[in-house]
Amino acid sequence: MKTEVDNTIVPFTATLLKWFAQYGRELPWRGITDPYGIWVSEVILQQTRIDQGRDYWLRFMDRFPTVEALAAANEDDVLLQWQGLGYYSRARNMHAAARQIVEQGGFPRTIEGLRALKGVGDYTAAAVGSMAFGLPVAAVDGNVYRVLSRHYGIDVPINTVLGKRTFGALAQELLPRDKASAFNQAMMDFGATWCTPRSPRCMDCPFAQTCEALHTGRISVLPVKEKKLTVKERRFSYIYIRHKGRTALRRRQPGDIWQGLWEPLMVEDGPLPELGCPLSTLASDVKHVLTHRVLRADFYLAEPAVRPALPEGYQWIEEEDIVNYAVPRLVEKLLQLVKR
Ligand code: ADE
Repeated sequence: MKTEVDNTIVPFTATLLKWFAQYGRELPWRGITDPYGIWVSEVILQQTRIDQGRDYWLRFMDRFPTVEALAAANEDDVLLQWQGLGYYSRARNMHAAARQIVEQGGFPRTIEGLRALKGVGDYTAAAVGSMAFGLPVAAVDGNVYRVLSRHYGIDVPINTVLGKRTFGALAQELLPRDKASAFNQAMMDFGATWCTPRSPRCMDCPFAQTCEALHTGRISVLPVKEKKLTVKERRFSYIYIRHKGRTALRRRQPGDIWQGLWEPLMVEDGPLPELGCPLSTLASDVKHVLTHRVLRADFYLAEPAVRPALPEGYQWIEEEDIVNYAVPRLVEKLLQLVKR
């Protein structure tokens, strides 16, 4: 598949651009080439749907018509204009980037230059670069993943490194070098209005003949997203008690991690027990990664003068004998600290 063979474009791209000429949306920032206005529209649209975005863009451009005006504004004013969109770090980044741009004497005209602006990632750099300066770079957003995965029947998960690489390369191959702006906007509009996530208009789709997902009944399963295991965090506090050469351990019971292994006095989430002496902190917030869990542990040492009563399940053992008890790796870390 080649974008330009004998100056022709691939059928997919030709069909897309033809569709765009007929059905592309009218948006206030369409047809402008002012990089500032385009950039503002892209940042707003990362935050909200197109209808609300349109109003925000008009107000924002009215209040801060140029990048110089935005750079000169105070942050409170910028945040005020952003109010309701949420994710205020985007507005703060945009404000900081405006100051970068003014310091540099104008908008950068390369992808690398755009990427170097605060808050500007691959997508935004490609969108602004192509629409404002005609740079031949594909802007790959969720619409692009969806349209390409369906049309080409690609089930590589989109939220993986391989997925980003695969779809990015494909979009780049399909992009006509002299029509990058139209191509990128056409992909976004087509994804947003035709090839939608839940009820795509396959019946009157210009790609009905060539769409792999339509032919194989996979519209509803593409694009594929890899389920990320939700990694739950647990907080453990361990207290190593030292009293007359002895310490306290318990054996961990079935129904939880580390069944059968031994551990010092442990509290999960709750308050620390009173042992009749101050606790000295050996380590805080030690991160320990298990397959489906992340543990965060605090380690303490207690050296009470009087032998304290222990919660149920714990027993006193000679510190010398501790080598005979199997302990989890996390507890090993604690024992290392106690030894020193
Ligand atoms: N979504 C984000 N940017 C867009 C653009 N320029 N046109 C249409 N939809 C968009």
